Amino acid sequence: MRHKDLVSFQDYSTEDFWELLETALQLKRELRAGIAHTMLAGRTLAMIFQKPSLRTRVSFEVGMTQLGGHAIYLSPDDIKLGQRETTEDIAQVLSRYCNGIMARVFGHEIVEELAQYSEVSVINGLSDLLHPCQILGDLLTIYEKKRKLEGLKLAWIGDGNNVCNSWLEAGPKLGIAISVACPAGHEPNSKILEQARRLGTVEIVHDPKIAVKETDVLYTDVWTSMGQEKEVQERRKRFRDFQINQELLKLAKPNAIVMHCLPAHYDEEITKEVAHGPQSAIFDEAENRLHAQKAVLALLMR
Ligand code: CP
Ligand code: NVA
Repeated sequence: MRHKDLVSFQDYSTEDFWELLETALQLKRELRAGIAHTMLAGRTLAMIFQKPSLRTRVSFEVGMTQLGGHAIYLSPDDIKLGQRETTEDIAQVLSRYCNGIMARVFGHEIVEELAQYSEVSVINGLSDLLHPCQILGDLLTIYEKKRKLEGLKLAWIGDGNNVCNSWLEAGPKLGIAISVACPAGHEPNSKILEQARRLGTVEIVHDPKIAVKETDVLYTDVWTSMGQEKEVQERRKRFRDFQINQELLKLAKPNAIVMHCLPAHYDEEITKEVAHGPQSAIFDEAENRLHAQKAVLALLMR
C-alpha cells in the first residue's frame, strides 16, 4: 500500500480497495484458525476521540491487540483537541511516541491537519464529512454475502451524511451503483456527489420506494448524526418517510440484505424487526469493522 494515511478514499484506487479487502479476508480466516500475529509488535496507535464510540473504539483497540501492538484511548477530555494546544503540535508530539493516529473528530479539516503535520499514519475514524473505515467493513460484508461487488446496487435511505459520502467515494470505484433516497435539502456533499457521478452510476431520488427497486443492499443510518442533536425534533419530522421496514424491504430484490452502521434508533430510520430479521447483515457488518481495520493497520503501519 503506497498510502501514508486513510483520511478519505480520494486517492484510493480500485486495486487499493481490493488489497485491503483481501488482507481483511486473510486476517479474518487466520483469526478463526487461531493463528496469532506479531506484525505490529512494539507499535502503538493513539486513538483521539472528540465524539462517543462503541464499535470504532473497541474494534481498533482489539485489532491492535490481535496484531501484537497496543492502542491508547484519548477521550474528548484527555487532550482537549482544539482547546489546549494546536492540532499541528498534537500531530508532531504523537508522531514522536506512536506509530499511528486514529481520530474521530467533528470538522473534517482536523483529521486533514493531523495527517498534514504527522509523520506517522493517520486514520479517519469518522468526521462530520466522512467515515471511510465503516465502508471498508461494509464492503467486506457485502462481498462475503454476495461473492462479488461489481454490478451490485445499493440503496441509501435517509440522510446524505458522512457514511453516505464515504459510500459515494467508494461505490463507483468498485462498480457498485448507488441510489440515494433523501429528503430535499439533505443530499450528500455536492463535490463528492459530482465526482461519484463522473466515476459511476449514482442517482438521487426523494422516494425510498424508487431507490430500492432492483436493489441488492438497503442501507440506512441515524436521522440525526453526532453533533446535530439540536435538530433532532425537526429531523424526526423531515425524515419520517425514510425508514427501512418490512414493507420497503419487500420492494427490493428478494435476496437483498439490510445494512446499518449502528448505533440504530429503532422505529426511526429502521424497525427492530428488520434490523434483527433474516435479511439483516447488521451484526456481521459490525464484526467486520474489526477485520477491515486490521487490514488498514497492517498495511499502513507495518
Ligand atoms: N458505526 C460506528 O462507527 O459505530 P461507533 O460510533 O460506535 O464507533
Ligand atoms: N452518521 C452517524 C454515524 C455514526 C457511526 C454519525 O455521524 O453520528
